[in-house]
Amino acid sequence: MIDIHCHIIPGVDDGPDSFDEALEMAEIAEKDGINTIVATPHHIEGLYQISPLNLLEKLKTFNERLATNNIKIQILMGSDLHISYEFIAKIETNNLLTINDTKYVLIELPTHFLPIKIRGLLKSMINNSWIPIISHPERNYLFQRSPNILFDFISDGSLAQVTAMSITGEFGYEVKKMAKKMIAHNLVHIIATDAHSKDFRPPVLSKGLKAASKIIPYDDAYDMVKTIPESIIKGDAVFTNPPQRIRKIFNLF
Ligand SMILES: [Fe+2]
Repeated sequence: MIDIHCHIIPGVDDGPDSFDEALEMAEIAEKDGINTIVATPHHIEGLYQISPLNLLEKLKTFNERLATNNIKIQILMGSDLHISYEFIAKIETNNLLTINDTKYVLIELPTHFLPIKIRGLLKSMINNSWIPIISHPERNYLFQRSPNILFDFISDGSLAQVTAMSITGEFGYEVKKMAKKMIAHNLVHIIATDAHSKDFRPPVLSKGLKAASKIIPYDDAYDMVKTIPESIIKGDAVFTNPPQRIRKIFNLF
């Protein structure tokens, strides 16, 4: 399996503090059947702004430590980009890291609201050949109330990533319910761990795969942890089932 959203580089965000913990996380991932991880440190203007060069240096050290410890996981570089209006320009000038240097851009939206004009921003990225991957929409309050906003974004050409622990209920009932609905309606395309630690948020995909395979056929669920993430890290086109609107949802807006 391939995990495209994982906070595993130590000392750069709210992920692990030390290489020792990062190595333990990698061991957990290896045991779970993950062979490739895209390390995606947060990039938040004014809070976490590590330079790409610095991150690539840390990645090199980490991959060397993995080899020394005989942990067979390939770590690639990416970032978890919190939306800002400068970020298209920054991506164009190589000041931000996309997933394994491809056209796929992992984007984290605020939890409690959606920025105004966000649909236009995502569309302009798509028009410039970038492919936004919206991280864990099931945890965003506005998508929970109005999931068909996500339908619009996906119809425009964005992809979305659901978090494994959301599907298994470890972020609570509301998030689990929404994660399942989004999977059933082809509104999310990739399952990732969004791991931050070895204990509370470990890099485990298998439980999410198992839970997803109770909602959609196993082969489709497996595509979400293998086939689609593999295409993404190679920069290949991704083929997904057409999104469907979610009906029977209380809509406040
Ligand atoms: Fe994240």
